[in-house]
Order: sequence, then structure tokens, then C-alpha cells
Amino acid sequence: MITPHGGILIDRVAVDEKRTHLLKISESLYSIKLDTWSLSDLVLISIGAFSPLKGFMKQKDYLQVLKEMRLSSGEIWSLPINLSVSKEIKEQLSIGQTISLTGEDGVVYGLMDIEEIYEYSKKTEALFVYKTTDPNHPGVKKTFDKGDYYLAGPVTLLNKPETIFTDHFQTPQQVRSTFQSLGWKTIVAFQTRNPIHRAHEYLQKTALENVDGLLIHPLVGDTKSDDIPADIRMKSYKVLMENYYPQDRVRLSVFPAAMRYAGPREAVFHSIVRKNFGCTHFIVGRDHAGVGDYYGTYEAQEIFNQFLKEELEIEILKFEHAFYCTKCASMATSKSCPHGDDVHIHLSGTKVRSMLNKGQVPPKEFSRPEVIEVLINEMKNKDS
Ligand code: ADX
Repeated sequence: MITPHGGILIDRVAVDEKRTHLLKISESLYSIKLDTWSLSDLVLISIGAFSPLKGFMKQKDYLQVLKEMRLSSGEIWSLPINLSVSKEIKEQLSIGQTISLTGEDGVVYGLMDIEEIYEYSKKTEALFVYKTTDPNHPGVKKTFDKGDYYLAGPVTLLNKPETIFTDHFQTPQQVRSTFQSLGWKTIVAFQTRNPIHRAHEYLQKTALENVDGLLIHPLVGDTKSDDIPADIRMKSYKVLMENYYPQDRVRLSVFPAAMRYAGPREAVFHSIVRKNFGCTHFIVGRDHAGVGDYYGTYEAQEIFNQFLKEELEIEILKFEHAFYCTKCASMATSKSCPHGDDVHIHLSGTKVRSMLNKGQVPPKEFSRPEVIEVLINEMKNKDS
């Protein structure tokens, strides 16, 4: 099995008597309400998906991540993982204090030992992470909307939010055990925030020719409002897998993180996290984790050139823009197809979304008919 990032899989989930005890203690603690983004970070840190992080980042890590994409311990890490609070809340807190972390529903989900409280520059953070300060960028907007101070320190998870798709929620340890029991040694992970269309399928199946198994690992945390909701996507993934994938070589599990839309930096982050889930390969296609025109088509691939393969360990499978060629009558990329753009059908999640929103049925070269059927029916149900 591939070694988790930083050497060991972090486990900050309290169970049994310890959990009962901490829940009792939490009743008398000062509590902070987390939004869904921070709550998902709490869960992902605690289950080891963000190993080697044990909590929200201290200033030294935070600054080094921004400037050098490394934690202070030297490991590669590309995105800040922080918990922000307002000035008013910060004034009621002190170093050494343990606080409880609740959700918007008032449920206590975890605890945090405050080791540092620090101020930060939102503009600097946005420039490093998103390469822009344009508030139209959803990640930048989120950064500017945050509180002005960060709290840092280790966390403990006491409850898992029910919003996570329990049927398909597995901790990194559980995913690793699944791979072990299946006898898979090489596993390719596929990140997506969209229904799987034919270009995605092409990437996955091309990769699958060379590895033991495929982990479809859709991101199901916060996404922008015009992305297709995760519950609908989950149905579309299942119908696709049932009809078009070899059952013994593919698994579906959720990645309950918030989407940052940070393009290249998020691609690095996505790959490290999948390594923690036990995957040995990771697909990065065109404009991975991008939004609008903020990043170059292959910037999320180029960013990996600055890291040694031995250091990252998970192998990045880079794919060119895939399309359907009507002359080849198959999916292809410019690496494998000699024909011109006039006979190519270009696919993207955004295109499929906009067609669906207009009530149009995307052609089968775009997306499998079973997937489209699920999407149309489910979106109708949501609207009614
Ligand atoms: S993402 O934000 O999660 O990256 P999306 O779900 O659209 O968005 O993409 C999932 C993966 O498929 C990413 O690695 C992306 O680069 C890749 N991808 C999407 N569409 C294409 C395409 N037409 N050709 C090549 N790669 C693609």
C-alpha cells in the first residue's frame, strides 16, 4: 500500500467512552459555529484525508504553504486549511483554550485546542491560492467573506455530519482496506464535481487499462450554486457504473470536501488527498478544478513539474483535452486523432449543464443516455 502523505494516517476521531466523555465536556465549552466548508475540513482532517494535518494550520505552516507550497515540516501541501473567526469572537478566546465546534444545525461535531490565533491578509491569500483577487472567482469571494482571524490547533471529531452520503462515505483507512481485500495494488483515482460524461469516461478507462482498479471519488462538499447537486450526481454515477463499467474493477466513494476552484493548486491538493485514500495514480485532465478562464488549460498539469515524482509518490496521469471524433467514431485526443476540429464534438460538464438547464437532451457523444435520463428526471423533481 502507498504510504500516506507525511508517513502516517492521522486519526482524530473519538470513539466509545472517550467520545462520550468529550461530548459531556463539550457542554460547558465555548462553542463556535462552523459553516459547511469548515465542517467538511474538520471531518477530513479527523479521518486522515488531510494527513499529515492534525488540525487547522498554524501561521508558520500557513505562510509556507502560500509561498512555497510546503508545510513547515517540509512536506508538499498546496492549499491553506484554516478556521476563521470574526474580531468579536476572537476577543473571547485565548491560547490554550479548548472550544467546541458545532454545525449550523447546533450539533457538536468536534473539539479544538487553540494553539494560535493570528491575523492574515485575504488579498495575499487570494493571490497565492487563486492567482487573482477578482471577487467573481468563487474561491476568492469565499476568502473575502471569511472572518479576519484564524484559529489554529489540533481537532477531534465527535460526530459525523448526516449530510455526508453515508452509503458511500468511507474513511481513508476503510478505502485502503477495501483495496486490500480486492487485491488491488495499483489504483487510479478520479476527482469530479460533475456528472461523468464521455470525456471523463475515456480518461478513466484509458487509465484503467494499466492499473488494477478505478476509484471514482466525486467531491460532494460545497460547490457553486450552478454545479449539479451531489445527490443527483451520485445517482448518475451509479447508473453509469451499472451499465458501462466492469463491476469488479471500479468502486465509488465520496470525497466530502468543499470545492475551492483553485485550479493548479487544487490539483496538487486533490492528488495528495487521494494518496491518503490509498490510490497510486491520479487523473489530471484539462483545466482541472478550474473555473471561468482563470487558469490555462494545462496549468494544473504543469504545476506538478516542480515536484519530484519520488516525493509526491502518487503518479499523475495527465490527459489532453478529450473529444468525440465523428470521423474516428470514438473518443480521442489530439494525440491519437488526425482529424480537424470540424469533426470533433467537444464535451464539458459546463456544456452539459447548460443544455440540461435549457431542457435540451445532450447527444450520446456527449453523455451516456442513462446518465442524461437520471439528470433530466432528477432535475425535474428538484424543480417541482
Ligand atoms: S473538476 O473541477 O473536478 O476538475 P470535472 O469534474 O469537470 O472538474 O473534471 C474532472 C477531471 O476530468 C479533471 O481532471 C478534468 O481535468 C478532467 N476533464 C474534464 N473534461 C475533460 C475533457 N474534455 N478532456 C480532458 N480532461 C477532462
